[in-house]
Amino acid sequence: MNKEKNEQEADENRQGEATMVKPGSKLNGKKLFIESYGCAMNFADSEVVASILAKKGYTTTSDEKEANVILINTCSIRENAETRVRRRLTNFKNRKKHEPTLIVGVLGCMAERLKKRLLEEEKLVDLVAGPDAYRDLPSLLEEVGTGQKAVNVLLSREETYADISPIKLDKSGVTSFVSITRGCDNMCSFCVVPFTRGRERSRDPQTILNECRDLLERGYREVTLLGQNVDSYRWNLTSKGEIKDTNKPTTNFAELMEMVAQLSPDLRIRFSTSHPKDMSDEVLNIIAKYENVCNYIHLPIQSGNTEVLARMNRGYSREWYLERIEAIHRIIPDCAISTDIITGFCDETDDEHADTISIMKEVKWDFSYMYKYSERPKTLAERRFEDNVPENVKAARLTEIIDLQQFHSLEANKKHVGKTFKVLVEGPSKRKPDEFMSGRTGHNTKAVFPIGDFGKCDYVMVKINDCTAATLLGEVIEILPPTN
Ligand code: SAH
Ligand code: SF4
Ligand code: F3S
Repeated sequence: MNKEKNEQEADENRQGEATMVKPGSKLNGKKLFIESYGCAMNFADSEVVASILAKKGYTTTSDEKEANVILINTCSIRENAETRVRRRLTNFKNRKKHEPTLIVGVLGCMAERLKKRLLEEEKLVDLVAGPDAYRDLPSLLEEVGTGQKAVNVLLSREETYADISPIKLDKSGVTSFVSITRGCDNMCSFCVVPFTRGRERSRDPQTILNECRDLLERGYREVTLLGQNVDSYRWNLTSKGEIKDTNKPTTNFAELMEMVAQLSPDLRIRFSTSHPKDMSDEVLNIIAKYENVCNYIHLPIQSGNTEVLARMNRGYSREWYLERIEAIHRIIPDCAISTDIITGFCDETDDEHADTISIMKEVKWDFSYMYKYSERPKTLAERRFEDNVPENVKAARLTEIIDLQQFHSLEANKKHVGKTFKVLVEGPSKRKPDEFMSGRTGHNTKAVFPIGDFGKCDYVMVKINDCTAATLLGEVIEILPPTN
């Protein structure tokens, strides 16, 4: 779930201590601009950072020019993600030449790997903080204030920022990410995340419920529960399933989702990412049981060939994945499914690529994120295999995959024409904001429809009249009243 938002604004301040801070006031050089790259976890983390710094009097701004502190929350997942961040940092370095008091910091997944280079060799930044070091940001900023470079990239086995109420940087007020786990223990051979974010840990379910309840009370109508592998969420359980503290209850992902679903029928629940090796029927049954848990699962396959999956250390075979797809269709008859595909992984042959094409034709995902393999430092694949599929072959395979997906997405959308879907209204449409509104179906497909007597956060029934591969076009035939 890659998402890019460059302009971000602080929401009305929820932190008791920070209410004295008037939004917009230029508080002794405490104006903060945060720019986030990468996955939803990073966007959610930026809101934790905004909350931690609000307690120290920092207000966020969407205008980088008026900021005294610029923090870039970075991603390392593929090489081009890092290249884009470095380009941005070079821009800020130029600005610092005539604005020496400007503080530029790097947060997130590039922090650990590039701290030395960014701070010393290239002198691009003043501050580097890794994903588990955000509570330390106020003191790191103080250190920078005394003329030093400040670094904390320590990873933690415990930190979940459970007690921090994130400050919403996205003004939409309809839908919000809620982190439920941090880190990842899976060690897929291509993936840098276990190195940048450390060991997996689950957040206390009560704090998750409190955050969702608070969002609901502030008018939000959708939460997306976030983790690198949501199915491995386990509170008060070891990875072997043993109870850690016998005086406390245990909670798995299915149980957590049920607790969140019961908060209100008006709060939609989404979740990402599901892992094929861990997604259980128990989870599928909860999705089927609650109308407000969306019938949509993002289930990354990566490759359709079992040998490639073994080299990737994904922990499942082609057959296992297909069995999980069959289970989804059996338990949740009307469920949209999307995936992630990596093409051109080490030693991938034409026949192995053909297996990815054939599984695409078999599953017919509604939507996919598709990538060329990008070798990442420290990963198992970097140490064990050679990145030996030529660039032109990777590019040709990717084009074939994208074209096929485009066809499948259009086919899936065409099947929806003539049907009626419950849509959560998100706001004016991007292309024609004066004429159309847009929202999402439970399947996570964007729907666009003429403006009417409804607003964002309303649920409406939309009859679909037409479509493209990415969007459903329709008209509102009913405005649904709130259930409570
Ligand atoms: N935790 C999620 C994925 C997180 S990263 C999961 O396991 O499914 C998001 C996606 O980026 C991955 O699913 C994968 O398709 C892609 N990705 C990760 N590392 C990559 C790499 N080295 N090169 C290309 N794509 C990569
Ligand atoms: Fe990376 Fe695999 Fe963990 Fe996903 S499950 S974050 S791909 S190591
Ligand atoms: Fe996410 Fe990128 Fe880090 S995908 S976990 S921000 S490496």
